Amino acid sequence: MAHTIKLHDLEFTPYLSEDKLRAIVSEVAGRINHKYEGKTPLFVVVLNGAFMFASDLLKEVSFDCEISFLRVSSYRGTSSTGEVKELMPIGTDVTDRDVILVEDIVDTGKTMGEVMAKMKLEGARSVSVCTLLFKPDAFQGSYTVDYIGVEIPDRFVVGYGLDYDGLGRNLPSLYQIKPNT
Ligand code: IMP
Ligand code: MG
Repeated sequence: MAHTIKLHDLEFTPYLSEDKLRAIVSEVAGRINHKYEGKTPLFVVVLNGAFMFASDLLKEVSFDCEISFLRVSSYRGTSSTGEVKELMPIGTDVTDRDVILVEDIVDTGKTMGEVMAKMKLEGARSVSVCTLLFKPDAFQGSYTVDYIGVEIPDRFVVGYGLDYDGLGRNLPSLYQIKPNT
C-alpha cells in the first residue's frame, strides 16, 4: 500500500495508482491506434520524464512505428524556468515524417511549444503531442495538445518518470506534493 514519502525536503502523498495509470495509458494508446493505423509515424520520446510512460504506451501501439529520443531540460526544483535547453539531439531525420511527441507532462507548455517548433523547422510533415499529464490551469501555449492521458490540478507531482530535483523517477505510481509544504 502506497503511503506518504519524502524526497529531499518535501513530502508527497499517493495520487494515481499503478492500476489507474495502466488504465489511462491503455485508453490513450487506443486513441492513437485508431488514428495512425496504416501510417508509419515517428515517436519522439522527450527525456527524461517520459521514459516510463513511453515504455508502457509503445508496448500497446499496434501499427508500424519508429522511436527516437530527445533530451531537454526546463525545470529547477518545483517550478518551470521557462528556458528550454536541448541536452541530447534527436539524431533522426524528421523530414516529411509524421512526428508524435511523447511527454510525461505539459505544464506551462513552453517545452512542448519549443520542441514542436523545432520539429517543424526540421521539416516534419505533421507534429502531434501525446502527454500523460496535462495541467490546464498552468498551460500558456496557443497550440492543441492532441492526446492527453489525464488533466490534473496545478500541483507538483512525482513518480512514474517524473522527478523532484533528480529523485522519484523510479516510483511506479504518481505522488502529489502535500498541501502546505
Ligand atoms: P513546461 O515547459 O512548463 O510545460 O514543463 C514541462 C516539463 O517540466 C515536463 O516535461 C516535466 O519534465 C517538467 N514538469 C512540469 N510539471 C512537473 C511536475 O509537476 N512534476 C515534475 N516535473 C514537472
Ligand atoms: Mg518532461
